[in-house]
Amino acid sequence: MRAGITVHKDYTISEIDPRLYGSFIEHMGRAVYTGIYEPDHPTADENGMRDDVKALVRELDVPVVRYPGGNFVSAYNWEDGIGPKEERPVRLDLAWHTSESNQVGIHEFSKWCDDVGTEMMLAINLGTRGINEARNFLEYVNHPGGSAWSDLRRENGREEPWNVKLWCLGNEMDGPWQTGHKTAEEYGRLAYETAKAMRQFDKDLELVVCGSSSSFMQTYPEWEATVLDHTYDAVDYISLHMYFENHEKDTAGYLAKSKVLANYIDTVAGVIAYVKSKKRSKKDVYISFDEWNVWYHSKKRDEATLAGKEGWPFAPPLLEDDYNFEDVLQVGCILNTFINRADVVKIGCLAQLVNVIAPIMTEPGGAAWRQTIFYPYYFASRYGRGTALKLALDCPGYTTEDIGEVPYVDASAVHNAEDGTISFFLVNRHQSEAAEIDLALEGFDADTILDDKVIAHSDVDITNTASAPDAVKPEDAADAALGGKGLTASIAPLSYRFVRIKLN
Ligand code: AHR
Repeated sequence: MRAGITVHKDYTISEIDPRLYGSFIEHMGRAVYTGIYEPDHPTADENGMRDDVKALVRELDVPVVRYPGGNFVSAYNWEDGIGPKEERPVRLDLAWHTSESNQVGIHEFSKWCDDVGTEMMLAINLGTRGINEARNFLEYVNHPGGSAWSDLRRENGREEPWNVKLWCLGNEMDGPWQTGHKTAEEYGRLAYETAKAMRQFDKDLELVVCGSSSSFMQTYPEWEATVLDHTYDAVDYISLHMYFENHEKDTAGYLAKSKVLANYIDTVAGVIAYVKSKKRSKKDVYISFDEWNVWYHSKKRDEATLAGKEGWPFAPPLLEDDYNFEDVLQVGCILNTFINRADVVKIGCLAQLVNVIAPIMTEPGGAAWRQTIFYPYYFASRYGRGTALKLALDCPGYTTEDIGEVPYVDASAVHNAEDGTISFFLVNRHQSEAAEIDLALEGFDADTILDDKVIAHSDVDITNTASAPDAVKPEDAADAALGGKGLTASIAPLSYRFVRIKLN
């Protein structure tokens, strides 16, 4: 199969906000406890945080981490996680039917963020709580001192405010499963008044209002229209979530699903434009895609655990998807979709980061390793910064009943003018044919190929485990070549490819 791709230096989509490559840590399962925090672990630092996990997070160069939930946040009291650890209360977490020890709170998490070189994106509880608790939390986190909450922060050991700019106004408030679920009208009003109060403290905050939990929600996309009708001029982003499944073991259908994602983004971009016009507003609202991933491998196991609802365990294994090779391709296509819509999607959070549907897995007291999906996220986060380029793609495709036609080759391209490189992220969805790529680089003067990496495997179900952590990993491809008008490369069937070129 031949595939032609043309990029031109001046045909750009948008500058990419580096926060497109963010992630998420929720107080659930083993994300925090025995994930990032395990005081008895051989690699634990003086704060009880695992150094082996920190090293892997640093590798990913994660720009922002959303915290502390998720469904968890909708019944969370942030005050439970401050002050002397031995005095912190144990609470029942209604979302995941577990016990929360509160041994990690905002102080411990922010220190961890500093250590791994990331920023905090904080979510407030608009399920069981409201404006007052949100403004108290904001004062605790961002006010220098001289007020009750800011002085309490200082007493608790943090002199300087954290100055967190990015705040989520609740989580998935459209979901009937959410503690304190609301209608779009109820939530829109509350979100607006909360945003107003938060801006009375600091008008320059970046605020994220809840959109739909997926494009399969009954209330989508009316939810977005109603919520934005209430909040448009008070917020900066609307949050979207989506998780991908392949219960049917239908590789072709599964890999076509990034088109559903693209349609979702297009629709919400349309709703944003509609409300903007309706309000005669001059400001823009963008999308924060702050939960996305593959999530289905662990569902049966978790249904059994959660259906029993026996007891309230501390940090039980939950949502521990063992990712396979096929998921590398899916995550590669999802990231391409975000890059190709970088004009409207500014923030993205791979959900989640450690143990819970995560690129990094740990064993309590034992190893930490990279899941298969670590790698497409790694390449996009490290090399997908700069300007997203438009692609003219000329390539055959296939049709699925539900989704329609998708091209066999999925691609995105990012020009980094600062370091003089251009990076290509490619997935071949074809199950038996290689894609012979002819890539025209218009307006660029290519010098050398810096990286040519491939992720491929004959078994789509293969996973990385503690005993075989490198079953799936990038290898040197080394068949990409420069010449004529650009680049040629042969992309193996069902493979992920990353090519980076140095420009003159
Ligand atoms: O990421 C796991 C869960 O998925 C989050 O708690 C919730 O927001 C979503 O439904």
